Amino acid sequence: MERTFLAIKPDGVQRGLVGNIISRLESKGFTLVGLKLMNVSRELAEQHYAVHKERPFFSGLIEFITSGPVVAMVWEGDGVVASARKIIGATNPLNAEPGTIRGDFGVDVGRNLIHGSDAIETAQNEINLWFKEEELASWEPSLMSWIR
Ligand code: TYD
Repeated sequence: MERTFLAIKPDGVQRGLVGNIISRLESKGFTLVGLKLMNVSRELAEQHYAVHKERPFFSGLIEFITSGPVVAMVWEGDGVVASARKIIGATNPLNAEPGTIRGDFGVDVGRNLIHGSDAIETAQNEINLWFKEEELASWEPSLMSWIR
């Protein structure tokens, strides 16, 4: 079953949007298989955003991600990687459609509330980076089998 890695960034946690964001993914029909509130070390942040190492916004991005607790999550379901990206919306919240998380709540590209893996392979790497195997639950929402 396809899985993706999502992380509610410090702005999303501090603004009290954790419940709202989780609710959107739950009500879409995806299954939560990993969840933890954590402080992010500089080392983890730099590994996670390694592709952006040479970009001008990199140091600000690392400062921000390590500035307060983050909610790290793994979600499972058919097509969850691309669907979660749609639910999240465009990188710059000013370009994100209303109805998306960033479109509904954000105005600043540096404070865009949530991270979502951009491809199936990236998702696998990010899940391995952020979670240990034993932190992930394997379960079937049997009462909702009509939606799976
Ligand atoms: P990116 O991977 O391009 O976007 P996304 O999070 O939508 O996959 O960029 C990673 C993060 O870097 C992005 O969420 C916010 C930050 N960022 C900036 O601060 N300024 C920028 O110009 C860009 C492109 C990204």
